[in-house]
Amino acid sequence: MFSRIDHIGVAVEEIEPALELYRDRLELEVAHREVVEQQGVEAVLLDVGENHVELLAPLGADTPVGKFLAKQGPGLHHVAYQVSDIDSALRALKQAGIRLIDEQPRPGIRGSRVAFVHPRATGGVLTEIVQPAAEPR
Ligand code: CO
Repeated sequence: MFSRIDHIGVAVEEIEPALELYRDRLELEVAHREVVEQQGVEAVLLDVGENHVELLAPLGADTPVGKFLAKQGPGLHHVAYQVSDIDSALRALKQAGIRLIDEQPRPGIRGSRVAFVHPRATGGVLTEIVQPAAEPR
């Protein structure tokens, strides 16, 4: 079902200091930057070979990432697996009895379609599945 790790999501308080670390000192290349109002985040994708690190900064305290930061502080937020067909992946997960946060895919960054699996269903690891846009980048 999963073809590879698409990205690792990292929650940060602010994008610029995180870019100073990931882009300037760790020398990862910024592939994409986008504000996703619907998810209450500004997201930056950095290339790591075929995979990515996704930096997530909350647009406000009352957003999922804002609440995560208040509770846990900055750090690892989620793991995202890539799929070629998110609708059939969601059906398969449901059939396997995996509890989902998103029953239907929603718009992700860079034209992708994404859905989150409930962390209680995946041993405490917040898990995202991603179907990339047909023509990424
Ligand atoms: Co993500």
